[in-house]
Formats: sequence, C-alpha cells, structure tokens
Amino acid sequence: MPTDDPREGPVLVVDFGAQYAQLIARRVREAHVYSEIVPHTASAADLAARRPAGIILSGGPKSVNETPAPSIDPAVYDLGVPILGICYGAQLLTQQLGGVVDRTGRGEYGRTPLTVTAASPLFQDWPEAAEVWMSHGDAITEVPTGFVATAASPDAPVAALHDPDRGIFGVQFHPEVVHTEHGRDLLERFLYDICHCPPSWTHTSIIESQVAAVRAQVGSSPVLCALSGGVDSAVAAALVHKAIGDQLTCVYVDTGLMRANESEQVEETFRRQFHVDLVHVKAADRFFEALAGVTDPETKRKIIGELFIRIFEEVARDLVVEKGRLEEGPEDEPAGYLVQGTLYPDVIESGSGTAATIKSHHNVGGLPEDLAFDLVEPLRLLFKDEVRAVGEELGLPHEIVWRQPFPGPGLAVRIVGEVTPERASILRAADAIVVEEVRKAGLYRDLWQSFAVLPAVRTVGVMGDGRTYAYPVVIRAVTSDDAMTADWARLPYDLLERLSSRIINEVEGVNRVALDITSKPPGTIEWE
Ligand code: XMP
Repeated sequence: MPTDDPREGPVLVVDFGAQYAQLIARRVREAHVYSEIVPHTASAADLAARRPAGIILSGGPKSVNETPAPSIDPAVYDLGVPILGICYGAQLLTQQLGGVVDRTGRGEYGRTPLTVTAASPLFQDWPEAAEVWMSHGDAITEVPTGFVATAASPDAPVAALHDPDRGIFGVQFHPEVVHTEHGRDLLERFLYDICHCPPSWTHTSIIESQVAAVRAQVGSSPVLCALSGGVDSAVAAALVHKAIGDQLTCVYVDTGLMRANESEQVEETFRRQFHVDLVHVKAADRFFEALAGVTDPETKRKIIGELFIRIFEEVARDLVVEKGRLEEGPEDEPAGYLVQGTLYPDVIESGSGTAATIKSHHNVGGLPEDLAFDLVEPLRLLFKDEVRAVGEELGLPHEIVWRQPFPGPGLAVRIVGEVTPERASILRAADAIVVEEVRKAGLYRDLWQSFAVLPAVRTVGVMGDGRTYAYPVVIRAVTSDDAMTADWARLPYDLLERLSSRIINEVEGVNRVALDITSKPPGTIEWE
C-alpha cells in the first residue's frame, strides 16, 4: 500500500529463515499495523522503495559466526528508517555495525530472567526484571559505536541495545512469543512510538482497502469464483461480492462428495443471504459415473480434478458469452477474472511477492489457455486467522468461517476402494454424527480435523438376533498447526462411546466403529 507519506508504508519483517518472520509479522498485525515479510536478499534500495515505516530483522536458525550466514545489505542502516533486530537480527546488526558477537559456549534456551539496565523507549512499560524467552548460543559481548546496552540476562551481557540517534534497536530475546512477559508492550512501543505507526490496520480497513483494490482491478469485467464450501473461497467470494455485486458469479459444483448440508448451506448463505449470482451445478451423477470401478487413490483424485475443471470450464464459457464479454475482445484484456482464495503463507512460500500461481490441486487448476482469465486474490495478504476475522466481519455464518479444512476431492479420499453413491451416503451420515458430537463436546475448534473414514472391508457382527456383515467406520481426529505434522487427538471416552453407539444405531450399513491412533508422520491425515 505505497503512499506519499513515508510513514504509511508497511513494517517490513526481514526473513532469516525458519518461520520466525511469520510470527513477528502476525504480532505486528495484531497491534493493528500492516506488516509484510521480505527476503533478506532484498537490497536496501528495494526496501526503501516500499517506504517502510519500520524494519524488523527476524530471528533465524543460523549463527552469525557461521559461513555462510544470511546477511542483509548494510545500507539499510543508513536509510533513516527505524530498525529492530530480534535474536539473530540483533546479533547481525551488532556485527555489521562493528560490535562483537562471541561464541561464549553458554547459550540460553527457554524462560530466562531479564534485567533492564538502562532507560530505553522500548522498555517503557517494563518492570526492572521480567521473564523473557531466549534461544541463543552466541552472545553480544560488545556494542557497536554509538550504541548502549539496555538489558542483561545471566548469559547475555547485552540482552538489549540501541542507538538512540539512528533509531536502531536490538533485543536478544523473542518479544513475539507469548512466554516473554511484556513482549507485546515492547513491540507496540517500537511500532507506535519509534515508527509512529497509527494502529489503523483493522479488519474493517482490510475490507475497505480490498474492496477498493478489487474494483480498481476488474473494472466492469465479469468475475467468476469457484465456491467449495471451505473458508477461503467463501471469504474471498463475500469480499469480491461486496466490491462488485452482480459482476460476480459464483460456481458451486456439487460433486456428490460434499459433507452433509454443505450444498444447502452454500445456497442459503450465498444465494439467499448475500444475494450472490450463484450457479449450483448438481454433478453428482457425472462424478459417480466417472469413478465407477476405480479403486486406485491417485486415479480417483485425477478423475475428480479433471471432471471438476471440465464442468467449471463449461460454466465459465457460458457465462463469458452470456455476460457479453469478450472472447473476441481486445487481445490485451482478459476474458474475465477468476477469484482465488490464495493466502499470505502461500505467497511467501512461493517465494514471490507478485506472481500468482494457481494452486495445482483440484479447484480451478489448469483452466484452458483460450479462456484467458486473470486472477483476483483478495486474501493474498492475509493469514488464516485474519481471513476468519474478515469472514466474520462480512457476516458469514460461524459454521463456514470456522469450518475445519476439507480436501478438494471431498469424501472420495475417505472412502477406501470404490466410490459409489451408497458408500458416499454411508460415510456422509457417519461423518455428520462425528461433526455434530465433536461440536457438542466443544472440541470442534480445538481439533484441526475430525471426520469419519470408510474402509473397503466388511466385518461380521451381531445385531438383535441376527448376524450382520457390514462396513466398519473409522474415526479420525487430529490436532495440528499446519497439516504438515499432526497428532491423533485424545478424544474423551464418553465422546467416543456416543460416536460409536450413534453411528451403529443410526447409519445403516455400519456395524463396527474403530479409532485411528496414528500420528502424521507416519500416517497422513486423510486415508488416501
Ligand atoms: P494429508 O492427508 O496429506 O493432508 O495429511 C494434509 C491436509 O491437506 C488436505 N488434503 C487436501 N486438500 N486437496 C485439498 O485441497 C487434496 O487433494 C487434499 N488431500 C489432502 C487434508 O484434508 C489435510 O488438511
């Protein structure tokens, strides 16, 4: 968001690796100041061009005494922009400005007492002693010329330092982690008092600025959005609809592999509540037909992905023609725009602040080239929790905003073996019970995902007077931060008991309930 006022640019968080930067960027935003992450290879001129209100050098996994160790263009120290170095960032600025960082052999890890030794604007809200979170092997032993040490811990003689004239600060500890008492106060002092950032980045302001950006981007062209029922596409659609109303058409493809009530909820929310122009494609028959007899997991995914794209393409072509644009329009104009729910972590991971890559899995990957759509990505600057907050602010229902992640291929990756309408409806009914009971137990938001799986075996049971030969249902519930790793959730026994008895009593075709107690790795979250 560049403006003429040098103070109104973002606070830039320089990334030295290992996710430290993301947490800092989120904390800055929680203080209602807009922040962005930049690679440490950016030159001082690149940073200056963003007109940053402040620069934060993040922690990192390396030591400044290693070679090679990630560094930053030393010209940043002469930009006249306030700088805060955290952990690795503090050591790096110390070393680059002529101080000394030693491998003392006495590191500090975890909770550590800190004593404030000299006045500093950053410690304004601090008592003389506080507990902070440390994670360092090296220590700053000599401050650069012009700097003063302002705090110490048992094994970090210089646990904080600053050069008041140049507005350059460093702290050895991590103010961004919750274990650091007054960490938030310290960041706020830096942002508000040193960088003079007003706390004006709010969910309302995000919506306003994105609404304006979408309008400016798409002009009067038609815009399409594939709704999946998930959080990201729902929030993206609601935001774009707020910006351009009827210019937006949402396409919801019911593959027959959705969760219970998902289609009704999309209809209810988007058509009836938001009055969005919604195309609801009921394509279950086509999907089941294409999946008949297929048992290989990868083949299933491929079939679903390709059919989804074909259907979406059919709708898109019709709409482009119907809405009076463009295929034969000027060559440099797109036929229309496609909304994508890309989030900030995807942008950071793809290593690019600008290029938009369509997510390859399912949804709208690989649209044919002759349907030249440009992408609208109204969430590309937001973290997941911000997307949820924006969704709430836009008035989306809680069930959508707080929905657990659901894979693109839907229930198909939870039906081992052949996907048939019967087997999908058994699983959907069992899954609805899992979700309902987990919600009632107050655990839905604590769990990353909780759902039912239908294996491809049948087992013998006894119900009433007769023997049964029916499917087992497996309960899968995991905790996770990012789905890269996960642990199986220790669900309470009374919840498991209710799940078992309700699923067997209420879902015909099921005579046994089992619990998946596999973490990831070695298991995946989904079964296929
Ligand atoms: P796994 O099963 O690999 O899943 O541990 C990790 C996360 O990704 C979701 N998932 C998918 N999402 N398309 C998606 O959009 C897919 O094909 C897909 N497969 C798995 C899964 O639900 C979990 O959150």
